[in-house]
Amino acid sequence: KRDSRFTELKQEHVDFFKKTLEDESAVIDGLSKDASDDLEPFNRDWMKKYRGRTKVVLKPKSVEEVSKVLKYCNDNMLAVVPQGGNSGLVGGSVPVFDEVVINLTRMNKIRSFDDVSGILVIDGGVIMENADNFLKEHGHIYPLDLGAKGSAQVGGNVAANAGGLRFLRYGSLHGNVLGLEAVLPDGTILNDLSKLRKNNTGYDLKQLFIGGEGTIGIITGVSIQCPQRSKAVNVAYFGLESYEKVQKAYKEAKLQLGEILSAFELMDAASQGFVHRKTEMKRPIEGDYPFYCLIETSGSNGEHDNEKLEAFLEHVMGEEIVADGVVAQDGTQIAELWGWREGITEAMGHFGATYKYDLSIPIKDLYKVVEDTRERLESKQLIGDDKVALGVVGFGHMGDGNIHLNIPVRRYDKDVEAAIEPWVYEWIQKKEGSISAEHGLGIAKAKYIGYQRDETMLKLMHQIKQLYDPNGIMMPYKYLSGEGVKEHTG
Ligand code: FAD
Ligand code: MLT
Ligand code: ZN
Repeated sequence: KRDSRFTELKQEHVDFFKKTLEDESAVIDGLSKDASDDLEPFNRDWMKKYRGRTKVVLKPKSVEEVSKVLKYCNDNMLAVVPQGGNSGLVGGSVPVFDEVVINLTRMNKIRSFDDVSGILVIDGGVIMENADNFLKEHGHIYPLDLGAKGSAQVGGNVAANAGGLRFLRYGSLHGNVLGLEAVLPDGTILNDLSKLRKNNTGYDLKQLFIGGEGTIGIITGVSIQCPQRSKAVNVAYFGLESYEKVQKAYKEAKLQLGEILSAFELMDAASQGFVHRKTEMKRPIEGDYPFYCLIETSGSNGEHDNEKLEAFLEHVMGEEIVADGVVAQDGTQIAELWGWREGITEAMGHFGATYKYDLSIPIKDLYKVVEDTRERLESKQLIGDDKVALGVVGFGHMGDGNIHLNIPVRRYDKDVEAAIEPWVYEWIQKKEGSISAEHGLGIAKAKYIGYQRDETMLKLMHQIKQLYDPNGIMMPYKYLSGEGVKEHTG
């Protein structure tokens, strides 16, 4: 239900926005005229699961503009949704009702780069692929990579605390982000764009914005530590007969590839089947296996890395841990092999819609959740060629203990949803896992937060939210606002 504390958008509000932002095209105005087609991409999420009804989208160009419009929203009790590339997978980036969308697309400047330290200072609205292309020219790499790199923004990455494909090597944004510039709901500009690796002077407030999903302010600038770009990158793709063997291969990869291992990704047969059906690409290896893994190495000495990778493959194949495998011979093949991993999400979406669960689980049970879900949906006769659910798919960041349990469906369906939720969250709670490893809470997971966080933690989180956003204008109905919180914690 729409919260009646929030003001409905009026002409005077739109007039203020138009007067305040640099040029009129920075305001998509659906109040004065029918602009539903123009507003649609900002109201609709990537998964086509959530749709808001905003009547106005603002595209400020500077931190000062963000400050002015946010202060105005706060003073006038207009609810707000910050939006980056709108590639989020939990419905956080679109309004629920008529919230004002503040989209960062126009804040897209690189501010500075130091090629000795590798520290990049950048606007929150820069698309991550553009950041990485800039860094490539300077011999560095953006420390995060993910399938939506062509649309996701740096500020969106930080707000979501995205994990991605190289987390194993370069770690969390909680470590890589050195400083932030953010605007608080009352318009205050928080300037903490530190370029220091070490800074133990008081509470590290920026950490609250990392993974804060836009609930306490808008990130307009980011200072981020970027690693040297590796001279030698190799990718191998292989098939395995069991999850036991996947675990053995992972252990061996850490042991034998050590410091050059930059990704270890897991894909099950169902996931690769979807990529194959969608792309009709020739499969990298012949034969059907229940599991496939993709390994990437990044190092400074090609010869040395090749030697290590070949010794590793020889060992795991000799020991029959890996059944069959292939190593990319050039850049094109590297991209093709990555396509079998990065293309999974889009491939499933092509056949309808997808129920998505992004879970952290102790590694030994990582795939069990997929098997149990498959069994459950089969026993309820919800899955199959003539049914709504097209399969149960497991893939993810093996090296991070993070599996993506996905149920592709012809269309979103209440019976399928009721069979999975909250059952899957209870499953995760029993294993002491996380119900949201990297995608966040948004609206999709808000009411399940109690499966993960206890009452003491929730109380502190609510106090923090109250301190930063006393009027509660940022991201209502999401994150901490889930109606089910008490029911699962009380
Ligand atoms: P949005 O989707 O626009 O917003 C995400 C959240 O952050 C929302 O709550 C929004 O309100 C808030 N927000 C956005 N910008 C700001 C800002 N400047 N200040 C404050 N709040 C803000 N995620 C992973 O973690 N790992 C993956 O491997 C991964 N792969 C993906 C692959 C595909 C094909 C797709 C579609 C998505 C994937 N994602 C992944 C999810 C998503 O791309 C990331 O979370 C990404 O970081 C979101 O960035 P964005 O700019 O699109 O943010
Ligand atoms: C991935 O790892 O590919 C992403 O998190 C996207 C997804 O889960 O669909
Ligand atoms: Zn992921």
